[in-house]
Amino acid sequence: MSTPLGVGGLLLVILGLAVAPTLTAQDRPPAVTDSLVERGFAVFHGPGGCASCHGRRGLGSEIGPSLRDREWARGAGTYEEILERVIHGVPRTETKTGEPMPMRGVAELGDGDVRAVAAYVWHVSRPRS
Ligand code: HEC
Repeated sequence: MSTPLGVGGLLLVILGLAVAPTLTAQDRPPAVTDSLVERGFAVFHGPGGCASCHGRRGLGSEIGPSLRDREWARGAGTYEEILERVIHGVPRTETKTGEPMPMRGVAELGDGDVRAVAAYVWHVSRPRS
């Protein structure tokens, strides 16, 4: 019962399986869920104090760089790198403005809030189609 259509269909399925993992890897990482991005928005503009330096919605200010311009001072802006940056901050000696970025935001965020705010930054820093 192997018709040409059947073989083609099977090929499509195999191709789909081969391509799917690559697409998800380029797309949002599994750690970045809608609800985490939403919580991260609140942390960014609230207890994290991120907006006071990086501007509302991460658009940047005189103190902190834009997080949406697709330019990263360090690394390529992966979720893991953003997470590391939020956890460790940036010492004053390493920033362009001489203004340090505090570790875990201004309110010493817990792990859940740190992950959420990193998910929010990942989300707003991706190019919009
Ligand atoms: C007191 C100001 C200040 C606060 C508060 C602050 N940042 Fe920053 N942030 C900076 C500065 C300054 C840099 C480094 C810019 C440079 O490299 O010259 C930076 C760098 C970053 C980077 C890396 C940018 C890049 O181009 O590689 C990320 C991501 C980031 N901050 C996210 C956050 C998040 C999320 C929060 C809140 C939890 C936060 N920041 C709070 C000032 C701040």
